[in-house]
Amino acid sequence: MKVTIIGGGGRVGSCAAFALQCGGVVSDIHLVDANQAMAEGEALDLLHGSAFTADQRITAGDYHQAADSDLFLITAGLRRKPDESRLDLINRNVALFVQILDSIQQAGMRKDAIVFVVSNPVDILTHLAVQRLGLPWQQVIGLGTMLDSTRFSSLIAEALGLPPTQVKALTLGEHGDSMVPIWSSSSVNGLPLTDYPGCNPGFQNQIFTRTRGSGAEVIQRKGGAGWAVGIAIRDVVHAIALNQRRLLPVSSLVQGAYQVRDVCFSVPTIIGQGGVQQQVEIKLWPKEQTGLQQSARALKETMSKVQL
Ligand code: 2OP
Repeated sequence: MKVTIIGGGGRVGSCAAFALQCGGVVSDIHLVDANQAMAEGEALDLLHGSAFTADQRITAGDYHQAADSDLFLITAGLRRKPDESRLDLINRNVALFVQILDSIQQAGMRKDAIVFVVSNPVDILTHLAVQRLGLPWQQVIGLGTMLDSTRFSSLIAEALGLPPTQVKALTLGEHGDSMVPIWSSSSVNGLPLTDYPGCNPGFQNQIFTRTRGSGAEVIQRKGGAGWAVGIAIRDVVHAIALNQRRLLPVSSLVQGAYQVRDVCFSVPTIIGQGGVQQQVEIKLWPKEQTGLQQSARALKETMSKVQL
């Protein structure tokens, strides 16, 4: 699989490239960036490690060299200021994002290519990509609450002194302020997490509040996310490349699950060859379903304000 990373010279794009290199699954990693020199530098730095890592082609260049890509990963965008919500970013990033979509199309992207959006506000930009590219909606996905879910699981594990890989806790809905914690399915090695000692309602509220604020916390501390978002991206790309049919909280155009339509956000989604294979409406607690409907309303309201 050839992956082109638009924004590959930036923090998120280069961390995604490193995660894909370490994963050794994709065959080609091509970096495109407005800062061409930075993209070339990141590609060279990655290439230097290739002899000890994986037999991949790692390049930097322009959109025309990306035309044969199987997947376009879009990470380019202006970063939020610490006190700015993702949705506030919207009009600053929409203009840039539309230019990127036009460049991909003008370069002659394949009709079976996948477009994978990470730039924020990711759910809004994923919806814009569905509208503008004219691809089947299944081929346009957004990172959604993948990053929030790994943060949620990891922070819970750290706080309860559990091995992080044994903790599974999802958030669904918007990758943003209206995201919903899904305690109903949370588990530690398959056992109900909400019954684990210490995982009381006060703890649950505190750890979710920190999860929801983690994007801003990372921006405040180091300027922006990189390592964890690269890992989250890697899992989605590998699910497509290997046709793993994994059930993941990624953003796509919701087709009626939880009575939601005409919005892009994260519902349980089977990801494999071709992108979205199925959105699965798995039963949630009533308050979680209500939260998803509120999240959908918040996104629709913002979408209505997008100035194209
Ligand atoms: C975050 O939550 C980049 O939106 C991403 O850090």
